[in-house]
Amino acid sequence: MGYQEVYESWKSDPEGFWMQQAEAIDWDRKPSKALFEVGENLYEWFADGQTNTCWNAVDRHVEAGRGGQVAIIHDSPITGTLHKITYAELRNRVARLAGALRAKGVEKGDRVIIYMPMVPEALEAMLACSRLGAIHSVVFGGFAANELAVRIDDAKPKAIIAASCGLEPGRVVHYKPLLDGAIDLATHKPDFCVIFQREQEVAHLEEGRDYDWHGFQYGVEPADCVPVEGNHPAYILYTSGTTGAPKGVIRHTGGHLVALNWTMKNIYNVDPGDVFWAASDVGWVVGHSYICYAPLVHGNTTIVFEGKPVGTPDAGTFWRVISEHKVRSFFTAPTAFRAVKRDDPKGEYVGKYDISCLRAIYLAGERADPDTIEWAQKVTGKPIYDHWWQTETGWTIAGMPAGIEALPVKIGSPSVPMPGYDVQILDEAGHPMKPGELGAIAVKLPLPPGTLPTLWNAEDRFRKSYLSHFPGYYETGDAGMIDEDGYLYIMARTDDVINVAGHRLSTGGMEEVLAAHPDVAECAVIGVTDQLKGQLPMGFVCLTTGVNRPHDEITKECVKLVRDKIGPVAAFKLCAVVDRLPKTRSGKILRATMVKIADSEEFKMPATIDDPAILDEIKVALQAMGYAKG
Ligand code: COA
Ligand code: AMP
Repeated sequence: MGYQEVYESWKSDPEGFWMQQAEAIDWDRKPSKALFEVGENLYEWFADGQTNTCWNAVDRHVEAGRGGQVAIIHDSPITGTLHKITYAELRNRVARLAGALRAKGVEKGDRVIIYMPMVPEALEAMLACSRLGAIHSVVFGGFAANELAVRIDDAKPKAIIAASCGLEPGRVVHYKPLLDGAIDLATHKPDFCVIFQREQEVAHLEEGRDYDWHGFQYGVEPADCVPVEGNHPAYILYTSGTTGAPKGVIRHTGGHLVALNWTMKNIYNVDPGDVFWAASDVGWVVGHSYICYAPLVHGNTTIVFEGKPVGTPDAGTFWRVISEHKVRSFFTAPTAFRAVKRDDPKGEYVGKYDISCLRAIYLAGERADPDTIEWAQKVTGKPIYDHWWQTETGWTIAGMPAGIEALPVKIGSPSVPMPGYDVQILDEAGHPMKPGELGAIAVKLPLPPGTLPTLWNAEDRFRKSYLSHFPGYYETGDAGMIDEDGYLYIMARTDDVINVAGHRLSTGGMEEVLAAHPDVAECAVIGVTDQLKGQLPMGFVCLTTGVNRPHDEITKECVKLVRDKIGPVAAFKLCAVVDRLPKTRSGKILRATMVKIADSEEFKMPATIDDPAILDEIKVALQAMGYAKG
């Protein structure tokens, strides 16, 4: 069957399609049907089935005689180490860790926060939670203590599993003091913490609260897999929304297993036993779906890469890893390729390695600019497939169904909708638009298995953020169009979310931080175009009357404040003091116009602008920062 036939077979019988895909998963009790309507536009998949994620990701491969196959390769150019863990070893390690967590009281439904760098122990911690039916929430290491505290208060974890440190080029990230700071800041306190001590830094353990990763597992009874309902949350992953309060995206167990397993062959075109590599971080959705769960559930070998695309040690790292481990399909963010291209424009490093094992490269996380795609295609000689999805969906909305049929690539488009997604372009009033017309991208409900059923502790916010604008649809927050051939094009976000080096950040969240500076009366944060990272945040602050301190002192404090409150990952380094912000007569800040000026793009003077002269002042401030040159 070609793509069109597969898509049509889903459309004509969505439940039958997913029931058939569910056959590939081991169930303790098979679901009686696929879709369950909870009411008022809420849906769940495989709700009355019973299964276990860890069983499907680990144990079943051992039972099937594949225990000797490598499950995880830890390739860490930053520490100069390489480590391989077979499925049989992984099962023993995870069962022991789960046993130790259970012995300390962690049970099905309890939350566990995981705050770890790119080490296999991060995956083992995730799998140990799923083994018990505990709900993990992984927090990215580049966030500050305050962000971790917000997540602790929302998820209310019984335990936190962390590493003593992370490693960034040239600097050790001291996780333990960040963790201690976050627990101090949070109102909710975990019962206990488990600390994985890395050689690079041995952290102080708090007597009675903190346990050493190894010591705590000594002599415990390994735990078996606990069957959970299909609609039991496997995890919560927080992502940026319009405000500083992150949204807790929930992933239900049954749909997660079924959908991810389907993607491995049909999108990434790998068979069990093949090596699959997603160069991301376990703290992001790509890391959850494609470093941990999907490759393991499908019986692949996954790579946990602790390094950067450049500088660890050079721009040849990607090609070295692909060649050394015989990677069949590779997934990264366009930003990473822009960094490699900057250091190695002619692709000379590619020639030093044999990458004939590689079939295709997949890009996602941000807009893939044509220059980068063309460069990657030229230097690697491989197909480059852009694909579009979000933390909320957990897997591809639109992409190349390479395992079904390699359709023609159209540069600038992430290709076509996957089965499960009825993607439509809507105007403001919710009417479908014609091919080629730009509008809001929405997906007809119900969303497919593996996508978010709601937000943790925030059903109202779920409805307001995603369901209320276009009744009967899920609002993606992206704008774009569909062409005559059914190919989708993603143009921009419709909200205050920006994308910095493939990392999703909230400008609203940064504004909340700046507004808390004692000298700041008012502020705006916008996302400006950046050659390397796609976008960079830029802040404008107006000072409280009577403040006479040097402006560069204040902007430096603002930069530090965002780094301390949100984290280095915000990459907030551009900030200017201005007298006034451009607004409409009703007081709305004209952020989109400011972005256009910064990027030297043509813009139409907003009819409702209060005082056009303020735009000239903004332009002067932008020029002083090296922007608005055109
Ligand atoms: N823990 C702690 N700090 C982290 C971190 C982590 N896991 N990840 C990033 N940071 C820090 C960086 O050290 C940097 O700090 P600095 O301001 O002190 O230099 C800051 O956060 C910004 O990081 P980043 O935006 O990643 O920039 P960079 O200059 O370190 O690297 C790239 C640039 C392009 C090489 C890098 O962004 C990259 O590899 N991007 C790939 C993105 C990706 O995989 N995204 C996942 C979505 S699919
Ligand atoms: P995240 O939830 O961090 O994965 O970010 C999701 C958002 O990143 C999407 O809503 C898009 O705005 C953007 N995005 C992800 N993939 C792509 C892509 N292939 N092309 C354009 N934008 C993308």
